[in-house]
Amino acid sequence: MALLTVRDLCVSIGRVQPLDRICLALDKGQVLGVVGESGSGKSLTAMSIMGLLPLMGGRISSGSIEFGGTELVGLPEPAYRALRGQRLAMITQNPMTSLDPMLKVGAQIDQVATLHLGMSPAAARARSLDLLQQLRIPDAGTVYHHYPHQMSGGMKQRIVIAMALAGDPDLIIADEPTTALDVTIQAQIIQILVDLVHQRGLALMLITHDMGVVAQACDRVVVLYGGRVAESNSVARIFAHPSHPYTRALIGCIAQTGQLRGSLKGIPGVVPSVGDYASGCRYHPRCDHAQMLCQSDVPMLRASDGGEVCCHFPQGLLP
Ligand SMILES: Nc1ncnc2c1ncn2[C@@H]1O[C@H](COP(=O)(O)OP(=O)(O)OP(=O)(O)O)[C@@H](O)[C@H]1O
Ligand SMILES: [Mg+2]
Repeated sequence: MALLTVRDLCVSIGRVQPLDRICLALDKGQVLGVVGESGSGKSLTAMSIMGLLPLMGGRISSGSIEFGGTELVGLPEPAYRALRGQRLAMITQNPMTSLDPMLKVGAQIDQVATLHLGMSPAAARARSLDLLQQLRIPDAGTVYHHYPHQMSGGMKQRIVIAMALAGDPDLIIADEPTTALDVTIQAQIIQILVDLVHQRGLALMLITHDMGVVAQACDRVVVLYGGRVAESNSVARIFAHPSHPYTRALIGCIAQTGQLRGSLKGIPGVVPSVGDYASGCRYHPRCDHAQMLCQSDVPMLRASDGGEVCCHFPQGLLP
């Protein structure tokens, strides 16, 4: 059984339904990429799993999120709070949403272990220093005593990763953890994170805009479009045989730039906004292969080639 299984997750915020029947699964020791353009529902999927939708005025209207055998939909807040920071951890794009500017970074990492794991201050300190070294932070003993403002963006993000690891979680959700950073630093940090996840047998959900990051770091990938799953499969399969025209377009962006670091801005057409989805398949206005059926009928997610695809005409083939 997978560590995390999300089934037919629907989310509403006020009168809009930004997530529609999201499905995904993630095992221990695995890195799952969640990829899609801005507004495709990546962060809302993460917030749903973390139980943080109420913060943005959203709620789960139907579906299931099973984590380590526990159903998280409807879990009371105190139980959720116990999971967060310990079994479930999240890393966001802006490290300052997780860091306290008034506290030395070492103390902030220590706190995770003392609060969530009940460690003594001395044991927590030794563990924090060890984590800083594993994150390849030079001169960890000095950095431990620094305040966030004394550090570069990349270093701050490593501290946030150390905090996420400090609680010994089973699952880390990283929501575009390196987007704000320089490209070289991005690749380094992603590699360190992925190596640690594999070494420790954790599960990592890595949210990204970048198919290059997917190719570098992920075992499996879920492609989202307009709040729905377009396609999911192993990374090897997705790159070898993309079934959904949107996935092919994403991979095409990489081919155009001649490198793995693709920009999603390369896909022609307008990214739909949440109140304004097309009828039928939400991708049809931008799809080269769209037929009448694609305008009228909503495609269903179905098994294909070891994964799942949500397209009337996968692989662009006419019936
Ligand atoms: N609090 C909110 N109220 C109303 N709509 C929202 C709210 N938060 C998000 N949305 C809408 O839900 C959709 C999905 O948003 P989400 O933040 O999950 O996208 P994303 O894939 O993470 O995008 P990005 O790559 O820009 O981070 C978007 O269309 C967004 O406008
Ligand atoms: Mg987001």
